[in-house]
Amino acid sequence: MNPDYVIRPALESDLGEIMVLLEDRVAWLRDHGSDQWPNVGEWRPVLQYLIRRRHTWVLVTNDRRDEIAGTITLTRDPEFDFWNARERARPALYVSKLATAVSYGGLGLGELILDWAVDRAARLKIKHVRLDVWRASEGLHQYYEKRGWRHVRTVPLGHRRSGTLFERSAVRVRPNLTEIDDPPFGRHRPGGDRRQWLARKIVPTTPPSAVRHRQPAH
Ligand SMILES: CC(C)(COP(=O)(O)OP(=O)(O)OC[C@H]1O[C@@H](n2cnc3c(N)ncnc32)[C@H](O)[C@@H]1OP(=O)(O)O)[C@@H](O)C(=O)NCCC(=O)NCCS
Repeated sequence: MNPDYVIRPALESDLGEIMVLLEDRVAWLRDHGSDQWPNVGEWRPVLQYLIRRRHTWVLVTNDRRDEIAGTITLTRDPEFDFWNARERARPALYVSKLATAVSYGGLGLGELILDWAVDRAARLKIKHVRLDVWRASEGLHQYYEKRGWRHVRTVPLGHRRSGTLFERSAVRVRPNLTEIDDPPFGRHRPGGDRRQWLARKIVPTTPPSAVRHRQPAH
């Protein structure tokens, strides 16, 4: 287990920091010549909705539980623009708004989060993890392919600039990340002490021996 990070559901109080992280990443993308995510400034209401539904997660440092190093959103809702009726008929986890903080770039944290998502899907008995990627972001397509994601197809819709579809089978991988899914506060569990929870030391555990470490198929 990576002792430095844990992953937990985002809280509404994280919204501002998540927006800053995403906007900084978009500034980084512009510096690298990318036009990806032009409307990031408008994501606040949708992110708030996703956080309230507990779909958005944050990767935080273990010693300061509210320093956000990355974020991911996982839903079971396919985009009808991209996934066909046969694909939509089978439960899958759909990844969106995945980003690491620019200051935490190059540490492999994206892979850490994605492996956790694949493992979580397997634990939930969901067969596939899917994402749609900005069509022009070829560097990102290579990023996924190198990490065992299968290119399903590219959907070139005029009104969407995303649409390069990737998928991975959900298998138990060694996620190398401790998941905390029990914040005793927030919309679903009112009345808890947020500060006390954030201060609680998490001792990373070894994954159960039943969990086999599988390499993604290339
Ligand atoms: C994708 C991401 C989460 C991976 O996080 P990470 O493990 O910290 O990896 P890095 O930031 O070091 O990026 C890994 C490589 O992918 C490239 N890359 C990352 N995002 C990219 C993008 N949107 N378009 C093109 N290339 C991208 C990086 O330039 C880097 O390339 P290099 O290995 O040649 O230097 C992170 O790069 C990120 O937040 N990217 C911007 C947001 C994004 O595109 N999210 C994915 C949406 S599907």
